[in-house]
Amino acid sequence: MNILIIGNGGREHAFAWKIKQSKHCSNLYVAPGNAGTAQVAENVAIAVDEFEKLGQLCLDKKIDLVLVGPEVPLVKGVRNYFESQSSLKNILLVGPDKTGAQLEGSKDFSKQFMLRHGVPTAKAQTFTVSELNQALNYIDLCNTPIVLKADGLAAGKGVVIATTKEEAKIEITDMLQAQKFGAASAKVLIEEFLDGIELSVFVLSDGTDYVILPEAKDYKRIGDNDTGPNTGGMGSVSPVVFATKEFLSKVEERVIKPTIAGLAKENIRYQGFIFIGLMNVKGEPFVIEYNARMGDPETQSVMSRIDSDFVELLTACAKGELKNQTLQISSDYALSIVMASGGYPGDFKKGFAINGLGDTDEATVFHAGTKKLNNDVLTDGGRVLAVTGKGKTLAEAREKAYKAVLNIQWEGVTFRNDIGLDLMKLSD
Ligand code: AMP
Ligand code: GLY
Repeated sequence: MNILIIGNGGREHAFAWKIKQSKHCSNLYVAPGNAGTAQVAENVAIAVDEFEKLGQLCLDKKIDLVLVGPEVPLVKGVRNYFESQSSLKNILLVGPDKTGAQLEGSKDFSKQFMLRHGVPTAKAQTFTVSELNQALNYIDLCNTPIVLKADGLAAGKGVVIATTKEEAKIEITDMLQAQKFGAASAKVLIEEFLDGIELSVFVLSDGTDYVILPEAKDYKRIGDNDTGPNTGGMGSVSPVVFATKEFLSKVEERVIKPTIAGLAKENIRYQGFIFIGLMNVKGEPFVIEYNARMGDPETQSVMSRIDSDFVELLTACAKGELKNQTLQISSDYALSIVMASGGYPGDFKKGFAINGLGDTDEATVFHAGTKKLNNDVLTDGGRVLAVTGKGKTLAEAREKAYKAVLNIQWEGVTFRNDIGLDLMKLSD
């Protein structure tokens, strides 16, 4: 099969790395890709939302299967575009349509969806700018901390956790009235704070049936011991020690089954990944958010643990044949450490040469913000690499990943030193 992956992050490099190992993969393309995807596939300089160009590329390269990585093309309707063109509509595509992608594209939509289908989640109320006074009064009735969420896509920055009511009031005024996140904060949810440990669960749905992928834990803050501002994710671990069989079966019964059934009931034929962000509150699962895609850097750890042929899984999803699919998952641990540009998630400089990329026998180096210039690989984004180690124990995976990280340098590089440590303590 000829396969196209849309996207340019670490998630897409991990997909490309895994897909390249499949006996079903002939030619592999990534649009637009990065210096890492160029090692295993052909990069094509088309942006993720240039649907006409992507469609033409599929015709030119006789693409059989398209895998959509990031949320933006999904929310903008890449599936709807392909289905609307007679020359493209028979190409297999993994990723939900515009309506399905609203699970991520609108936090108000996803909250109402959860309430309609009895999926456990935090209590919330939604307000628009004309309801600012009601929102301020509502904050007076809330317990602190208070979670404020911009309704629309805000590149992972739309959630604010206010520790005081005063802070919440200033923040919501900024979001609604001053449009802090542009159109994304035209509506804001005021949500109850859930106190617990977070976990990401991934499901591949074909609209009727589903397959559950390995779970992972993400490390969202920039600094060690979960300090400093939120990022796209600074590391990931899979499996997760507190995700016991008992907890995961609660997740399947209370969250996954009603979600899949709810989508079908609302006539949303959801063919793609559902990333369920969960809070484990004293052993009970609550949904924090849905995403209409895989996580980054969770994918790097998850792909490292899937033993089955990933192309078979994707094909079955796109054909609506997941019912007969089983997934072989390695019992090994995978741990990914994100190496980022100095200054990230704030301002940072790009274009530094990365040294030591070759010295990584024991770990896989997935690229995110990188580009090739002559014989150099240069930094080209905030999150630059995710280095993934695998081992029989979490300690072994961790040691391999950090050993590889210490061999890679560029000016200003930053990474967390504590990825996986909390889970090692939990399993003691
Ligand atoms: P989101 O963009 O929805 O993933 O939110 C970003 C982060 O904010 C999450 O990963 C959580 O750490 C935190 N968060 C979101 N909603 C809640 C909540 N209701 N209670 C506690 N923390 C939350
Ligand atoms: N790592 C979190 C995300 O991909 O949204």
